[in-house]
Amino acid sequence: MKWVIAIIKPHKLNEVRSALELINVQGMTVSTVEGFGRQKGRTEVYRGAEYQYDWVPKIKLEIAVKDETLDEVIETIVSTAKTNKIGDGKIFVVNLMQAIRIRTSECGNEIL
Ligand SMILES: Nc1ncnc2c1ncn2[C@@H]1O[C@H](COP(=O)(O)OP(=O)(O)OP(=O)(O)O)[C@@H](O)[C@H]1O
Ligand SMILES: [Mg+2]
Repeated sequence: MKWVIAIIKPHKLNEVRSALELINVQGMTVSTVEGFGRQKGRTEVYRGAEYQYDWVPKIKLEIAVKDETLDEVIETIVSTAKTNKIGDGKIFVVNLMQAIRIRTSECGNEIL
């Protein structure tokens, strides 16, 4: 199992969620975050205006996925979140040791 952390532009959230649901992703967690990349947050355009601050609003998606669906999830996020402009975001992948559904105590791959 893998833990996928995707930092994306806020206006792409619904499109990314819909695309992930279409490939049967069963759940995800979303947070509003602020960050910066290699432009240090200073030169990005956000909602039509150049952003003057060091922190740019982003969305963080966190998704637990089966190993065999990882590539499809990454491809889906990349193809839907991409605008070809700076600040499109990044995807990080870490190994996930365990997953447990609290209601039933089921665990592992089958709960994802
Ligand atoms: N190394 C990093 N670690 C953690 N979060 C990061 C890292 N790099 C970028 N981020 C997060 O991703 C967001 C978007 O990054 P961004 O897409 O600007 O990366 P970039 O490397 O500058 O690429 P680009 O040149 O396409 O803008 C940042 O605002 C930050 O929240
Ligand atoms: Mg950047």
